[in-house]
Amino acid sequence: MLTAGTQTSPLPDTPITQEVTAEWPEIVLSVAPFLDEVQQELAGQVAAFNPEIAPYAEYALANQGKQLRATLTGLAANCVGGWNDSVIKAAVIIEMVHLATLLHDDIMDGTELRRNRPTLACKWDNTTAVLVGDCLFANALRLAAEFPTTDVCRAVSTATRTVCSGEIIQSHQRGNLQLGQVEYLNALRMKTGELFALACELGASLAGAEPRETRALREYGMALGTAYQVYDDCLDLFGSEAEVGKSLGTDIASGKATLPVILLCEQADPEVAAQLGRMIEKWDAGQLNILRGWLAEFNTLEQSQSRLEAVLADARDVLGELRESGHRGALKELTQFLAQQSARLGVC
Ligand code: IPE
Ligand code: MG
Ligand code: MG
Repeated sequence: MLTAGTQTSPLPDTPITQEVTAEWPEIVLSVAPFLDEVQQELAGQVAAFNPEIAPYAEYALANQGKQLRATLTGLAANCVGGWNDSVIKAAVIIEMVHLATLLHDDIMDGTELRRNRPTLACKWDNTTAVLVGDCLFANALRLAAEFPTTDVCRAVSTATRTVCSGEIIQSHQRGNLQLGQVEYLNALRMKTGELFALACELGASLAGAEPRETRALREYGMALGTAYQVYDDCLDLFGSEAEVGKSLGTDIASGKATLPVILLCEQADPEVAAQLGRMIEKWDAGQLNILRGWLAEFNTLEQSQSRLEAVLADARDVLGELRESGHRGALKELTQFLAQQSARLGVC
């Protein structure tokens, strides 16, 4: 619990997109040295692998994007006192688990491009990518086992199991155009929200947070991660491959009904859903424009953006549980940043 006299204050309840612009460099400014250390440590982990495996590990570990999860780990730690070597190690572990899940995810989704480079499976082959993913998971757990207690290792294992379970559940939902929003969001919480939640939880607890603060930050991470996946799912349908640097349209190509498609099937004539069902049985990329026409007709992007903003509002609400500080402000700005990114979708 928070100690007596600790100041908390509610955050203003204004719509996210009407607020000041949140720029990424400013949000991450306070954790820039932290992220540098995480990146160096992560790159240094290549040496832990057998020399024959090192080139694959190096390729996978060099594929870092915005380091969103590491950023959250650092910001959560700063909210409650500041990062230390244990927080850096936790961020390295979480990024490594994330990179491992991406190697497997790209195989399952048949993706050719990620972060403007061929996926590891395309550059080499599926067998190599599956096993390098396993090596990264195993290495992450080996690092987690170096903590003085088993707490971090247990938390990382549990979260990884949840992420993989979420991916399994979502893969079993493929082809189901009757999928409900609740089932969809539950899979998102598991496959993406969970690792964001872990990043916040470990950042907080390893920096010495009170249990109440750790719980609040975990909840914030869960909501932010879920909103992020809604955004990513919208990007897959409404984004531009050249701008994003990864293969798009892969969700519907593999029969995944994401939020815009679920909204379409809820609102359109049943014949539209039936026709889409026939299309996804034998999908070709040219059909994406037909789907985009239907999605536009029913304003599914706008509705998805509203849903995403509601999840972000949950993330912001929970920040009221934390002491007021510039770092808490950075977490709030992160929600604004994501809302802005989402609002830009579909704007030519
Ligand atoms: C995968 O979701 C999330 C993971 C748990 C790896 P997506 O399949 O939508 O991720 P992208 O679009 O390939 O990055
Ligand atoms: Mg994917
Ligand atoms: Mg995606």
